[in-house]
Amino acid sequence: MSSTELNSIAQAMVAPNKGILAADESTPTIAKRFKGIDTESTEVNRQTYRNMLFTAPGVSEYISGIILFDETIRQTTNEGIPFPEYLTSLGIVPGIKVDKGAKELAACPGEKITEGLDGLRERLNEYYALGARFAKWRAVITIGNGIPSDTCISANAHALARYAALAQESGMVPIVEPEVLMDGDHSLDTCYQVTAKVLDVVFSELKNQKVGLNGIILKPNMVISGTDANNRADVAMVASATVDCLISHVPSEVPGIAFLSGGQTSEEATAHLSAMNEFGPHPWQLSFSYGRALQASPLRVWGGNKNNLESAQAELLKRSRLNGLARTGNYNPQMESV
Ligand code: 13P
Repeated sequence: MSSTELNSIAQAMVAPNKGILAADESTPTIAKRFKGIDTESTEVNRQTYRNMLFTAPGVSEYISGIILFDETIRQTTNEGIPFPEYLTSLGIVPGIKVDKGAKELAACPGEKITEGLDGLRERLNEYYALGARFAKWRAVITIGNGIPSDTCISANAHALARYAALAQESGMVPIVEPEVLMDGDHSLDTCYQVTAKVLDVVFSELKNQKVGLNGIILKPNMVISGTDANNRADVAMVASATVDCLISHVPSEVPGIAFLSGGQTSEEATAHLSAMNEFGPHPWQLSFSYGRALQASPLRVWGGNKNNLESAQAELLKRSRLNGLARTGNYNPQMESV
């Protein structure tokens, strides 16, 4: 696959007024989400839920790509059309989570390393054959007492770059996701320093391992106060610190940056993205690749009840539309009540 072809997939993933729906929760994670709505996590319920999301009328107007999980990429719509084929027919690029989750990092208490490199080339080739055109790998960096360590940052950056090189080899655009967690009472400034350092190490590894930067999408955290911090920074502060950090640490060849929501409320995630785009244009597209911030309200409205499927789809459409508006800085919190 040429770098031009990878770049055109990446451009489609960050097309104007659209963003990515992360629906790639692993089986344990989706079970946790279903537990919150008192619903059993069976294969049938998982298909029902994902089918509801993917077939929501009008969603392709605001959603450019959807990240699937291994089980989901093999499932079909209620009419028997494989999900990747169905999404492609709507102009939505199908993607696939390929990491095997974050595990304890040896000799580094409280820190994690993402696993999944063994056999990755073969798995990527299979996913490509199933229709995936981009992949996702999430690394997790925790802020705490004396952490993150350089060991943790460099081990995760190394793995992200090895994954990204393999994804490009297989013809898929790698979403490179180094997530600095919001958990903790750290300040916005600490999040800024850690995020800047992580991005520097990640881009240095990507360069070392010959990853073409115009064929990746970066999926970072926003620069934000820790969940338990006193005097958490407001929307304007988060937006300006995040853009400032990215301008200084993300090369302009990268076609797009698609944020994770990371535990922000749906409204916060939309407001932050809109505020950042309000003072664009930026060197790269600034978009979204939200999981919880797109799914929290449709999941709640569905509640595991088939009578609520249509109203849940309307919720997904609403969140997608509002985030679509945030892509040009045109979201306003008053739109929430309409
Ligand atoms: P959240 O938006 O819920 O953080 O999920 C995004 C994601 O894909 C994490 O890997």
